[in-house]
Amino acid sequence: MIDLIIDGAQVQVPAGTSILEAVLRMGREIPHFCYHPKLAVVGSCRMCQVEVQGAPKLVISCATPVAEGMEVLTASERATKARKAVLEFLLLNHPLDCPICDKGGECPLQDYTFKYGPGESRFVEEKVHRIKHQPIGPFVVFDAERCILCSRCVRFCNDVVGTSELGVFSRGDRSVIGLFPGQSLDNKYSGNVIDLCPVGALTSRDYRFKSRPWDLVTQVPSVCGLCSAGCNIVVDVRHKEQGQQLLRIRPRINDDVNGYWICDDR
Ligand code: SF4
Ligand code: SF4
Ligand code: FES
Repeated sequence: MIDLIIDGAQVQVPAGTSILEAVLRMGREIPHFCYHPKLAVVGSCRMCQVEVQGAPKLVISCATPVAEGMEVLTASERATKARKAVLEFLLLNHPLDCPICDKGGECPLQDYTFKYGPGESRFVEEKVHRIKHQPIGPFVVFDAERCILCSRCVRFCNDVVGTSELGVFSRGDRSVIGLFPGQSLDNKYSGNVIDLCPVGALTSRDYRFKSRPWDLVTQVPSVCGLCSAGCNIVVDVRHKEQGQQLLRIRPRINDDVNGYWICDDR
């Protein structure tokens, strides 16, 4: 076990734990986009930067393991300023179409911008425009303008499913997620990228524009009955004048059964 200090609190975690995971274990937040507990760490979004006493620069907490005696400051002036700058960069070419975005209301980019971001943009130039609402498989629609290039979807298809339909193409502000030639995102687990995507870049063709998240007033923990695996799910229900409507099914985390995922069967 490793002893360290996070924001003045003494913490003990197993060796090999990242600073980000140690902070999350404390029940506290470090904003992050590219990190996901079941995907390889790439450290690309830079949103999770923290200050470590004695280190010359800020470190990305998702890719920095804890060390004995380490002192971490998650909300120092430098870390706060860096977070704000990262959000400003992410939003430079972002379309800000929250009012018509399925992710609006449950979007980490919205929430983090509200909590940690700059209140307004200094960007007055023409934004880079990209392809919008492009079906990339039987269940998934892609909006390239909303993508923040966290690569969660790419890593999921590569490392979890093993089908590798998606990749990051081009460079700089022209970088874009895309399908390899002749491919379609039609693997048996493709719908998981909708839940994995931290923004509204990958949305569901079925659920598109059916409801705002705050109208899904009942979330019922349940178990999928389509096969004997018994994957844990959450059933999102909307109440309307004419009765209840089951509008969405999401995976419910259970490491002993389905982990974070469910299949596309229906
Ligand atoms: S992805 Fe989030 S921030 Fe971007 S338009 Fe959709 S709701 Fe708004
Ligand atoms: S589509 Fe979503 S999950 Fe994929 S890289 Fe873009 S933001 Fe990340
Ligand atoms: S979450 Fe750490 S760099 Fe993206």
